[in-house]
Amino acid sequence: MTFTVCRDCLELADTGGDLPPEACGSCGSPRLAAHAELPRLDIAHIDCDAFYASVEKRDDPSIRDKPVIVGHAGGRGVVTTACYIARKFGPRSAMPMFKAMELCPNAVVIQPNMAKYKEVSNQIRDIFRAATPVIEPVSMDEAYLDLTDGARSDTRPPAVHLAEIAKRIEDEVHITVSIGLAYNRFLAKLASDLNKPRGYSVIGRAGVKAFLAPLSVRKINGVGDVTAKRMEADDITTIGHLQALTPDQLVKHYGKFGRRLALYAQGEGSRKISTHREAKSISAETTFARNTASETELCDTVRPLCDRVAQRLAKSNLAGGTLVLKMKTHDFQTLTRNQKLTDPTQLAEVIYETAAQLIKREADGRAFRLIGVGVSDIRPAAEADPPDLFAGLG
Ligand code: TTP
Ligand code: MG
Repeated sequence: MTFTVCRDCLELADTGGDLPPEACGSCGSPRLAAHAELPRLDIAHIDCDAFYASVEKRDDPSIRDKPVIVGHAGGRGVVTTACYIARKFGPRSAMPMFKAMELCPNAVVIQPNMAKYKEVSNQIRDIFRAATPVIEPVSMDEAYLDLTDGARSDTRPPAVHLAEIAKRIEDEVHITVSIGLAYNRFLAKLASDLNKPRGYSVIGRAGVKAFLAPLSVRKINGVGDVTAKRMEADDITTIGHLQALTPDQLVKHYGKFGRRLALYAQGEGSRKISTHREAKSISAETTFARNTASETELCDTVRPLCDRVAQRLAKSNLAGGTLVLKMKTHDFQTLTRNQKLTDPTQLAEVIYETAAQLIKREADGRAFRLIGVGVSDIRPAAEADPPDLFAGLG
C-alpha cells in the first residue's frame, strides 16, 4: 500500500498498489511525495534551498540563471551561500571566496543583506505557524515542526500540511524549501537533506535500519569533521558500522554523545520539538498620560490591552498558561504579578478577569504611570480553553 500527496493540488491518495503512480489521479501533476506510512508520520524538518542566494535571485531576475555566490568579496572573505548553479562548479558555504572564484570565475558575487533575509525568515515562519504553533527554529532558514495530533492546527494529515507549506512559500515568498517528514527529529532532518532542492522526502519506520546502514556517519546531526575523523580512525564510516556496536561500546568511545549515536543508528531519537526559542510571552502595555491610582481607570485601561494580547495569540495559534500583570509606580518601581491559569487561554475575557483581580490587590492608593498585561507559559492553541463542562446544562 502506498500513499501519495500531490505537491500541486495537495490531494492525499491511497493508491492501493506497492508502486506509486506516475501522476496525481486528481490533477495530473507528476509532483508526488509517496510513502506507505505517509499518513502516520508527524515530525518535520524544513530547510530553505540555498537560502540567501535564492532571496537575491528572487529580487533580481537578471541573475536567476547565473551562478550566484553570496559573501563578502575580496581578501579573506568566505562564501556564505552558493546557489545550486554555482555549486556545480564546486563553490560551497564557508569556502574562501578566492577559491570559489577560481572554481567558478563567472559567478555573480553579492554582499549579504541580513535584514532582508531576516524579513523573509519571519514571513516563512508565519506560514509554518498556520500549520502548527509548535515550531523550533534552528536558524533563519530551517525549523522543526511538530505536526502531531495535539499540535497541528487542523485534522488534515501532516503530509498535506507540509505540501501546502512548500507551495505557499513558493507562491507567496517566491523561494523554495526542502521538506523532511519522519517520526523523529533526527530522521526528519536527514530526510530534508536527501533530495535538495525542492525536495520532499519521507522516512518511515519499516526498514529504517537497512536504509540508514549505508549512509555516512556525517549524515548524523552532531557528527562534524572532528568526530567523523575520529570515527574513521576506528574504521567507522557508515551508520551500519555504528549499528554493529553496543550502546556501551559507543559510550566508551565517544563519551555521552555515544548514547545518542546508539539511538540514531537504530533510527530512534527524540520526537520533542521545543518551542523555547519562540516567543516566551506575548504582552501589551501603555503609559498613562497622567499617573493614576484609580482601580476603575486601571481596569479600563487594561481591557483593550487584553484584546490585543488575545488577538495576537489567536493569530499565532497560541495560548497562554500564565497571566502576567506589570505595573510601574509613579516613582519608577516595576511590579510584576503572575497568576497561573486553570487552563491555557486565548480569550480576552479570561485574560481581563484575571488581570482585574490582580489589579484590585495592587490598587491601594499608589499612583501608577504604566500598566501592561501579557501571558507567558506559551502553549499550542489546541490546549486552550476546554469547553465549559456545564455549558448547555440546566
Ligand atoms: P544552509 O541551510 O546550510 O545552506 P543553504 O540554505 O544556503 O543551502 P541548502 O540548505 O540548500 O544546502 O544555510 C542557510 C543559510 O545560512 C545560508 O544561505 C547562508 C548561511 N550560512 C552561512 O552564513 N555560513 C555557512 O557556513 C553556512 C553553512 C550557512
Ligand atoms: Mg538551507
